[in-house]
Amino acid sequence: MKMNDIKTAPFMTKAIMLISNMYRLGWDERNGGNLSYILYDQDINEFLDTTQVIRKIPINFNARELRNKIFLVTGTGKYFKNVEYNPEENLGVIQISEDGEYANLLWGFLDGGTFTSELPSHLMSHIERLKEDNHHRVVIHTHPTNLIAMTLIHELDEKSFTKTLWKLATECIVVFPEGVGVLPWMLCGNTDIGRATADKIKGFRACVWAAHGIFGTGTSLDETFGLIETIEKAAEIYMLCQGQQIINSITDDQLKAIALAFKVKVKAGWLL
Ligand code: 13P
Ligand code: ZN
Repeated sequence: MKMNDIKTAPFMTKAIMLISNMYRLGWDERNGGNLSYILYDQDINEFLDTTQVIRKIPINFNARELRNKIFLVTGTGKYFKNVEYNPEENLGVIQISEDGEYANLLWGFLDGGTFTSELPSHLMSHIERLKEDNHHRVVIHTHPTNLIAMTLIHELDEKSFTKTLWKLATECIVVFPEGVGVLPWMLCGNTDIGRATADKIKGFRACVWAAHGIFGTGTSLDETFGLIETIEKAAEIYMLCQGQQIINSITDDQLKAIALAFKVKVKAGWLL
């Protein structure tokens, strides 16, 4: 069967636009940031013969819970700024093998490259989010500038970190009523930070990595980007206020009023 060019597939064009957008926001310097996106049969049917495996790449942990799932994923060492000009080298489509030990490459990584070094954090987070929500599809890791700055000067307790964000801008508690998880600095690119991130991601859709960036998850590219964008915007406001006394931040009672009006379930016990 003749396949259409996968580079014209809607999932692909949307993902590339998002990656370029994040680069232009200044969040993804050099090879910073990575993305993985669960593809459904209807996304790829016309574009990909899933029986044609180009390479089998070991994952180095067992991802059996994701067996047969297909992901669009960014490559390790690849620059977000280059993705739109050369998607086939900078991106890959992988399918997790039946035994969970391998990523079967179906398309991309044309120069012999491989998936992001943060794949453990991505796949372990996908496993946890899918337990919470079977519509879950996206994990984005990026390095938003103001959020990283905030982790350098704000205590890293996640209740305190979340409440600071909520009190800076009205939409925060609506967009992330469950709060954000926060991890202290850890070495990245391994299964330890993957496990720690996925444990946070059980209760929060976003997890901040101190002095590094953020993992955001969601059911669509837009929703996941919007979550990260909202957190970064609040962090930017926080940084803009440095050196000045904040005298009008949102109170706990006002946060409760927002939650009631927008019918969102706020993290239990976090509002007075
Ligand atoms: P990769 O190039 O392996 O995706 O790593 C980038 C990054 O942001 C590491 O945390
Ligand atoms: Zn990173």
